[in-house]
Amino acid sequence: MLDRADAKAVQREAFRADVLAGLSQTPKRLPARWLYDDRGSELFEEITRVDDYYPTRTETGILEGNAAAMAGFCGTGAVIIEYGAGAGVKTEILLGALEDPALYVPVDIAGDFLKASAERIESRFPDLTVQPVVADFTDDFDLPEDLPRGARRVGFFPGSTIGNLDADEAADFLKRMRGHVQAGGRAILGTDLKKDVATLVRAYDDSEGVTAEFDRNILKRINRELGGTFPVDRFVHEARWNETASAVEMHLKSLDAQTVEVAGRPFRFAPGETIHTESSRKYSVEGFSRLASACGWAVEAVWTDRGRKFAVLGLVAQA
Ligand code: AVJ
Repeated sequence: MLDRADAKAVQREAFRADVLAGLSQTPKRLPARWLYDDRGSELFEEITRVDDYYPTRTETGILEGNAAAMAGFCGTGAVIIEYGAGAGVKTEILLGALEDPALYVPVDIAGDFLKASAERIESRFPDLTVQPVVADFTDDFDLPEDLPRGARRVGFFPGSTIGNLDADEAADFLKRMRGHVQAGGRAILGTDLKKDVATLVRAYDDSEGVTAEFDRNILKRINRELGGTFPVDRFVHEARWNETASAVEMHLKSLDAQTVEVAGRPFRFAPGETIHTESSRKYSVEGFSRLASACGWAVEAVWTDRGRKFAVLGLVAQA
């Protein structure tokens, strides 16, 4: 077992390797997961409350308005497997509506965070057994062997987190979840929907500047943890719609021709050159249905808001 200090050192080394590799590529890019240090996670929470960022509030409304139907879809005595333990209120809406759930299995890579959220759920739902699993759900992993026999398994993947995965990763994820729930299994998955570009871009470049702060936080993290020399105020946040990828992209744009050092290595920027920091894919219900059916799932239920901004989908595992 790794203790916390070791785990930190391993993370730091992975961060260093990813940053050096990403800044060496053309175009420059950084894996989005490094945006979410403590400060980044705090800023993301703040994003979910700004007016321009509609997904969280829209999805929560859909869950609240359709909780009974979703509980019916899950059935009595279900085992709920949640991919990522960060969903807080959303999890509580679903669990609160279920009839006699057999077990709740939250899966998250961050052990401390997982433990805290498992404890919160246990205290909110004293009759529910919680069995957390520490794993990276973007990689293959096995569920515990002692899950209740014969109970229907339902994957829960809210938050439009699927949007952060590229096409291959999303397909791998859906196949993995299909394997986890086995025959007769189901899933409830939230995805943001394709819509007019102005609304999409505004959601990722909000007028309060919280998303810009969230994006630039990764430069501060590099400066702090990897001895970087980024002049943070000489990089501006930009949100772009990429039609081919059907994704909103976040970029950090260098205002100047400049050379920045990270871990003693120089990286040159041309004026206007960007670092691509995150992609958020937007699906249509039809497009998602095609992807799902290639991965062993059928879309059986579509719960959406009046403006069709966001969809929560009920998926059924195919034989
Ligand atoms: C947490 C990945 C769902 O893509 O909408 C929000 C992250 N980034 N604003 C999203 C995010 C900038 C968010 N997800």
